[in-house]
Amino acid sequence: MNMKGRSFLKLLDLTPEEIMYLVDLAQELKEKRKQGIRGNSLAGKNIALIFEKPSTRTRCAFTVGAQEEGAMATYLAGSELQLGEKESIEDTARVLGRMFDGIEFRGFDHEYVEALAEYSGVPVWNGLTDEWHPTQVLATFLTLKEHFGYVKGLKLVYLGDGRNNVANSLLVGCAKVGVDIAISAPKKLWPKKELVETCEALAKEAGSTVTISDSLDVVEGADILYTDVWYSMGEEKKQVERIKLSAPYQVNAALMKRTGKDTTIFSHCLPANKEKEVTTEVFESEASKVFDEAENRLHTIKAIMVATLGE
Ligand code: CP
Ligand code: NVA
Repeated sequence: MNMKGRSFLKLLDLTPEEIMYLVDLAQELKEKRKQGIRGNSLAGKNIALIFEKPSTRTRCAFTVGAQEEGAMATYLAGSELQLGEKESIEDTARVLGRMFDGIEFRGFDHEYVEALAEYSGVPVWNGLTDEWHPTQVLATFLTLKEHFGYVKGLKLVYLGDGRNNVANSLLVGCAKVGVDIAISAPKKLWPKKELVETCEALAKEAGSTVTISDSLDVVEGADILYTDVWYSMGEEKKQVERIKLSAPYQVNAALMKRTGKDTTIFSHCLPANKEKEVTTEVFESEASKVFDEAENRLHTIKAIMVATLGE
């Protein structure tokens, strides 16, 4: 698989084979790291990490991942760059592209990350926008592969805010690689109709299903229940309304039982609001793989950088 020079903006841009190639490469890099074998495939490269929004996992995964492959990562706070205010994103992109070999961007407007990719001339990686969080899904898939031994054919049910960046990305990722996906959410928080239609077509090709429902019945047969915060970064004003809307979709012990399987696992992209979208009981249970997935952010993000920028 040759992904050299490519950007990683949203999963819709990747084939199912490319998505699984990155998951497999991440697993290989993780195995090597455990054995104390470090790669050097990004030796001498400089990587810019732009963050308009806060981050623990994504920032650390890009920083440590880059360092472990021989690159140097430079953190740039969005608030200090004058992005789109005193300098257009296109101009910033052209400047950064002259100095850096790769750029990570986390922010609000997805068009920013698209513009960075178009104008910088170097690989750009989306570390989360209002619309998408594609690197997260690779970590979910690696976690599933490690736990169940395979990915295609599993059933993932996502509960809560069914139209946020994580939900959108899981919807596309699952539909592409043949994971049955159900989103259980209040009607007001369903993903966009066009996206659902696109994903239904992708799932058909992959031999899997897409279900969008406001019922909790769809958890039946789930191999993994997944949730995320009810109000995302930048949506703090909607907190009260969202809690009210989403409360019935909390992942708790009763819901885990309702899958009808005692093998169902739980995951969350983190950070989590405990006792909101998930109870502490489920979060801390044996079934919870949240910290495996958090660790897997490192290996999958490293894989993306190695695949698109590595020698
Ligand atoms: N899951 C995730 O992206 O975490 P951070 O916001 O800490 O990067
Ligand atoms: N939907 C969340 C994900 C955080 C990793 C947010 O955008 O805040």
